[in-house]
Amino acid sequence: ADPSSLPLRPPVVTIMGHVDHGKTTLLDYLRKSSIVSQEHGGITQHIGAFSVSLSSGKQITFLDTPGHAAFLSMRQRGANVTDMVILVVAADDSVMPQTLEALKHARAAKVPIIVAINKIDRPEANVDRVKSDLATHGVEIEDYGGDVQVVCVSGKTGQGMDDLEENILLLSEMLDIRAEPDGMAEGWVLESTIKPIGRVATVLVKRGTLRAGDFIVAGRVHAKVRSLRNEAGVEVDEAPPGTAVEVLGWKEPPEAGDQVLQAPDESKAKAAVRYRQELKERGEVIGQMA
Ligand code: GTP
Ligand code: NA
Ligand code: MG
Repeated sequence: ADPSSLPLRPPVVTIMGHVDHGKTTLLDYLRKSSIVSQEHGGITQHIGAFSVSLSSGKQITFLDTPGHAAFLSMRQRGANVTDMVILVVAADDSVMPQTLEALKHARAAKVPIIVAINKIDRPEANVDRVKSDLATHGVEIEDYGGDVQVVCVSGKTGQGMDDLEENILLLSEMLDIRAEPDGMAEGWVLESTIKPIGRVATVLVKRGTLRAGDFIVAGRVHAKVRSLRNEAGVEVDEAPPGTAVEVLGWKEPPEAGDQVLQAPDESKAKAAVRYRQELKERGEVIGQMA
């Protein structure tokens, strides 16, 4: 099929950057809630996935990632499943080790970035220093004739946030992000946790539509989807391409980074798991992120 005839899907936008540079605060502002105040020590320890409906009616799926050095694999995963990266750099701290690490992941995954220079409300903010530090590290920012957009924002006051949204939408229009909503669903496990309601995997659907009752394979486990919930814990009927949902119904936990594939029926799902198990015993692995 001609890909340009497929429907557009919401862009998947991953927020990355050094610890405490304000990633979650920016997301909080965009979704007008307050996650950061509920976090243990104000440190993000997981990949959060949120769909935001903008006033324009357009939808964006954001993935928040931890900036703490310990969470390298989560940042890597975030960069691998996303359409673009928002690289957050605090204006009072400039480029730091995890800024560079995030940059490396975005480059390796070949996804475009938008730089958000945050905390510009702070008296110590030095936007020019951030720009020149980024240029020093090979980021071709627009100020110096490159094509990487730089937006100055404050997650605290909201300054520049309209600009940031606009830049995200412009870039996603340029990327022309489309996906087949019909057929077998495909996606990735972002997170796998145990909650009071049971084993939960946060799945980002990249194509097809996932529904309750579907049989799926993730890595070397399979499940019949019992129910789907959005990030607010509200049950939803389906997860179309470009959205993230919590999937319930696992007997065994899938692993973060596992590829999710819908199977036509339970016996095919079981056969796929057996096959993957055999491959593993032979030392080969499929269905997992590199
Ligand atoms: P990790 O997830 O732990 O990597 O941190 P983070 O990048 O998500 O940063 P977070 O949103 O937790 O913010 C860290 C601190 O910076 C918090 O105290 C925020 O209130 C503060 N902060 C974030 N954005 C701004 C801003 O634009 N201006 C000011 N003044 N403070 C901010
Ligand atoms: Na933090
Ligand atoms: Mg955070």
